[in-house]
Amino acid sequence: MPLDIIIGTQWGDEGKGRIVDLLAAKADFVARYSGGDNAGHTVTVGDQTYKLHLIPSGIVHEHTTGIMGNGMVINPATLLDEMSRLRAGGVQITPKRLRISYAAHLISPAHRALDAAQEKARGREQIGTTLRGIGPAYTGKVARYGIRLGQMLDQESFADAVKVQVESINQQLTHLYDAEPLDPQQVAAEYADYARQLAPYVGDVSLVLSEALRRNKQVLAEGAQGTLLDLDHGTYPFVTSSSPTAPSALLGLGIGFGHIGRVIGVTKAFQTRVGGGPFPTEVEGDLALRLRGTGENPWDEYGTTTGRPRRVGWLDSVLLRYAIRINGLSELAVTKLDVLTGLHPLKVCVGYRVNGQEYRELPLGPSDLSQFEPVYEELPGWDGDVTHIRSFNDLPLEACDYIVRLEELAGIPITTVSVGPERSQVIHID
Ligand code: IMP
Repeated sequence: MPLDIIIGTQWGDEGKGRIVDLLAAKADFVARYSGGDNAGHTVTVGDQTYKLHLIPSGIVHEHTTGIMGNGMVINPATLLDEMSRLRAGGVQITPKRLRISYAAHLISPAHRALDAAQEKARGREQIGTTLRGIGPAYTGKVARYGIRLGQMLDQESFADAVKVQVESINQQLTHLYDAEPLDPQQVAAEYADYARQLAPYVGDVSLVLSEALRRNKQVLAEGAQGTLLDLDHGTYPFVTSSSPTAPSALLGLGIGFGHIGRVIGVTKAFQTRVGGGPFPTEVEGDLALRLRGTGENPWDEYGTTTGRPRRVGWLDSVLLRYAIRINGLSELAVTKLDVLTGLHPLKVCVGYRVNGQEYRELPLGPSDLSQFEPVYEELPGWDGDVTHIRSFNDLPLEACDYIVRLEELAGIPITTVSVGPERSQVIHID
């Protein structure tokens, strides 16, 4: 089947960008279907690193067409900036190579201001959002007063709609949150200019993809965020406002059933999260510093979008099995195995203990895990650099055992293991 879907199994930042990059080598279309510029995908090709927030990362392959689906919320300022940065890095961005759904929703500075005001008002209960206006933009969509990108095709009505929207959000900012209002006229003028630049890219991506699938073209749906940030299935309320899980790929692109091939879950060899919310296997101190890195390298554990240090911990196989179930994953790609080199022993959470009772599955989903104490299994670590290894059998025995044990716990095959950030630092397992 020609539609493959790539999904993060954790709280985002699993390294989906580099797995998409691998699979995009054989794809005709690479499509984002949810979220907005809260996402940060990093692709390293040789000595060039591309950081993408909105445009699907598979676009760095010359032969692909990038698709931005109706499930997305799009800030045109970020998008235009990303387009110019990609062009400067040698990636061709034209209306032929990048198509944006007319039904994707707009993010304006008013959404960002509201996101910040709402976070401030939450006080100690802060979600730790990326402050990109994601929640307010999706709220507007569901409440049916959002602006869709199709309206950019009529610049005058688009500018009017932006002005009205900013005026309306100003009411909330000033009356509910005691925050500064924005200048509606100025935002509308700025956005009219964005509309002029982006209008040639806007169209019906459902039509484009359906036609492509009918002709047996290969489509890769690129998930953003991760399963545990899903609005319904994540650690609610510490989630994003969209659905990053696999079924949303169909909804967020306007594709019907019947095309799905592989559903690939990307999981880091350990676990990370940015922002608030439960994280049963979180570690602190020296071990946390060791897993996080110092921030000197682009692949250290600091947010691609916000630069915040990520919380880190041991891999949680209970949550991994949950992600496999929710997404119907067919296989796993494990990233950052190299980061575990030199740690003795390694730990994997295989269950939870609450009031003397042990659980191997989550009894009521992942939202309320505060009482859950992880039950760990210890595995021997390995020494020696693995970043140059390209074949599973060349890995140290303990690294092979770690992967084999993860596969047993997951119950689905691990087909890819990455051992470094560069495109070639990958091991394929038959
Ligand atoms: P929002 O999506 O900006 O509203 O943020 C909601 C939560 O999701 C916060 O905890 C963010 O840190 C987290 N989040 C959103 N996008 C990403 C991502 O791409 N990677 C990791 N965490 C994310």
